[in-house]
Amino acid sequence: MTDLLEPRAIGQALVRRDGEQKVRGTATYAFETPVEHPAFAHPVQATIARGRVTAMDTAAAEALDGVLVVLTPFNAERLASTEDQEYAVLQSPDVAFRGQLIGMVVAETSELARQAADAITVTYAEQPHDSELRTDRTDLYAPEKVNPGFETDTAEGDVDAAMRSAAVTVDHVYETQMLHNNPIEPHATTALWEPDADVPLTLWDSTQGVHPDRAAVSEVFGLAEEQVRVVCPYVGGGFGSKGNPHANVMLATMAARALPGRPVKYALTRQQMFSLVGYRTPTIQRMQLAADRSGRLQAIAIDVVEQTSRIKEFAEQTGVPTRMMYASPNRRTTHRLAALDVPIPSWMRAPGECPGMFGPEVALDELAEELGMDPVQLRIVNEPEVDPETGKPWSSRHLVECLREGAQRFDWSDRGPGRRREGDWYVGYGVASSVYPTMRQATSTAAVRHSNGRYTVEIGAADLGTGAWTVLPQIAADALGVDVADVEVRIGDTRYPVASVAGGSSGTNTWGSAITVAAREFRSKFGTDPHDGDEATGDVDQASTDEDHAAYAFGAQFAEVRVNADTGEIRLPRLLGVFAAGRIINPRTARSQLIGGMTMGMSMALHENSVFDTRIGQVPNHDLAEYHITVNADVGSIEAHWLDEHDPYVNVMGSKGIGEIGITGTAAAVVNAVRHATGVRVRSLPVTLDKVL
Ligand code: MOS
Repeated sequence: MTDLLEPRAIGQALVRRDGEQKVRGTATYAFETPVEHPAFAHPVQATIARGRVTAMDTAAAEALDGVLVVLTPFNAERLASTEDQEYAVLQSPDVAFRGQLIGMVVAETSELARQAADAITVTYAEQPHDSELRTDRTDLYAPEKVNPGFETDTAEGDVDAAMRSAAVTVDHVYETQMLHNNPIEPHATTALWEPDADVPLTLWDSTQGVHPDRAAVSEVFGLAEEQVRVVCPYVGGGFGSKGNPHANVMLATMAARALPGRPVKYALTRQQMFSLVGYRTPTIQRMQLAADRSGRLQAIAIDVVEQTSRIKEFAEQTGVPTRMMYASPNRRTTHRLAALDVPIPSWMRAPGECPGMFGPEVALDELAEELGMDPVQLRIVNEPEVDPETGKPWSSRHLVECLREGAQRFDWSDRGPGRRREGDWYVGYGVASSVYPTMRQATSTAAVRHSNGRYTVEIGAADLGTGAWTVLPQIAADALGVDVADVEVRIGDTRYPVASVAGGSSGTNTWGSAITVAAREFRSKFGTDPHDGDEATGDVDQASTDEDHAAYAFGAQFAEVRVNADTGEIRLPRLLGVFAAGRIINPRTARSQLIGGMTMGMSMALHENSVFDTRIGQVPNHDLAEYHITVNADVGSIEAHWLDEHDPYVNVMGSKGIGEIGITGTAAAVVNAVRHATGVRVRSLPVTLDKVL
C-alpha cells in the first residue's frame, strides 16, 4: 500500500500554464528557435524500394548560389555507431525502403535547399522488392520478444479442443490498417555544432524525451552525453513518433557538424513523415472464441500477423491485451512478423493495445449476437477475478462499473434489436472495452529548490501538449504542502535532471513520483521554513513500488452510428466513454487527453488509412488532403467521463496513465454499432461506405 498524497492542488481543473503562450504564438517550437543566421536542410530520398545507389550527380545542386553543403553516402562523415540501422544515415549506398534518406543539401534558405536537393540526379541498381503483408507468406517469423519485451507467444490449456466442444464459437479474421502518426507539428530540429565549446552539440528538437534523445544522438556520433544538450520546451504532438529519435535527427546533426558554428534547421515535410518517423503496422488478427450458453468463455485466442522492416525490427504487441482482459481456461496468443522492404514501423498511440483491442472486441460482439445476449452483459460475465495471465490480483479494476455507468449515461437500454430506420438513416449502437497498462519508468530524477518563498522544480520532462507544464506543479504543490501558485516547474532541457520518455502513458506517473520523493527529501532536510538556495533531489527508483498487483486503467466506450440507407454514408452522432484511471490529477487536461484518444480512435474507425501501394512500396496518400483525419464535423458529441477510483498500489498520486487508453476499443465500438445499424459485419478497418453497401 502506498501512502497517497493528500489532494489539494491535485484534482483541480487548472488552466494550462503554457496556454497563453501557445495561443499568442510566443511558445517557441524546435524549428522556430531564435538563432543567429540559420541555414536550412532538405533531404534527398530514395525513389526505389530496394537496391543500391550507384551514383549521385550533385554538380547542378552545388552550382546553385547559396548552397552550402551537399552530403551523400559517398562523402558523409562515418558515424561512431551504426548498430541501429535506422540511425545509420548516409553510411551505405544500400536502399532498404522507398523514401529512405540518401542525401542532403544545406543552403541559405529552405526553398533553395529544396530546389538543390531536387537537382541531384541519382542512379540506382534496382532490385525486386517485396512489401506485401499476407498471412500465407512462407517467410513469417516469430520475433524473440514483442514491444517492449513481452513474450511473443503464450498458451494455456487447449484452445482447439475447446473450439470443437463448445456450444458457441466465433472464428474470424480481423484487419487493422496501416496508420501514420500525424502530429500538427512535423518533426523538426534546429542543430548547432560548436566544436570548441564545452557542450559542442545543441539540438532544439521536437521530442517526447530530451534525455533519451540525447542518449541516442551521442551514441551515434561517438560523443559523451555531457557534450550534447537537447532542448524542447514545447511539442506540437508526437503520439509516439517522437518517442525515439528517428533518422531525421541524425541527419540534422550531421548537417550541423558539416557547418561548424552555423545553426541548421530541418523540418520534415508532411510527405516525408510518411516514410521516416514510424507508423502503426497493419495487423491481421485471427480470433477464436468458444463459450458455453451462458456466455462464459471456454477459449480465447488471437494469432497476429504484422509487418516490420528489413533493417530494423519493431514487433507490435497486438496480442498482449487478449492475455489479461477476460477470464477463460483455454488461451493462446501468437505474433508473427514479415520483414518487408518498407519503412520502419514504430510506436503510435497505444501500440499493441490499440490494434489489439479491435479483433477481440469485435469478436465478442459477434459472440454476443450468436448467444442472443447483450454485449455489455457478455463482458460482465467474463470479468476475471484476478489477472488471467499472471494470477495477480488487480491493483484496481472497475471495468464492470465503467460498462454499467456508460450504459446508463448512453441510454443503452434504448438499443433495440437493430436495423432501426429513421428517415433515410439506419441507427445503431455499439460498445467495446478499453484498457491500458499503468506503467512507471525506472529512471527519472527531480530537483526541488527554494528561493524567495517560492519553489522551483526541475526535471527534464516533456509536454507533448498533454499538460505536463500544468499537472507537475499540482503534484509538487501537494507533495510540498504549499499553494500551487508558489511552485514553478522547469522541464524540456537536458540541463535539468534526467527524465524518462513521455511514452507508454507513464510520464505523469514517473515524473510525479520523482518529484514527490524530491519534495519529501526537501522537507525532511530543511523542514517547513527553508532558506534560499536549499535544494534536494529525488529519484523515481526511491518511490514505493508494488510488484504484487496487475495494474491497468479500464474503460467502456459506446458509439451511436447512422448509416445512410442509399449512399452508405456513415455518421457518428455520439461517442461516450467512461474510464477508471485512478486519481485524475487535472480534470481539464485529462478530459482533453481522453477525448483526444477517442477522437483518434474514431478516426481509425472511419477515416485514417495509409494505403500502401505494394507495386512501388509507398503510401501514395501521404498528405493531409488524402490521409483523412477526423475533424469536428465528423462527430456530434464526444463525452469522456470517469469514475472516482482510488488505487493505493500504483504510485503515491494514485494515478494511472490516460494518454493512450482513450484510443483503445473505440474502433470496435464503432464497427459494432455499424453492424447493429445495418446488419453488415465489417472486419477490416477503416469502415468506408463501400463496405456497408
Ligand atoms: Mo506513446 S505511442 O507510448 O508515445
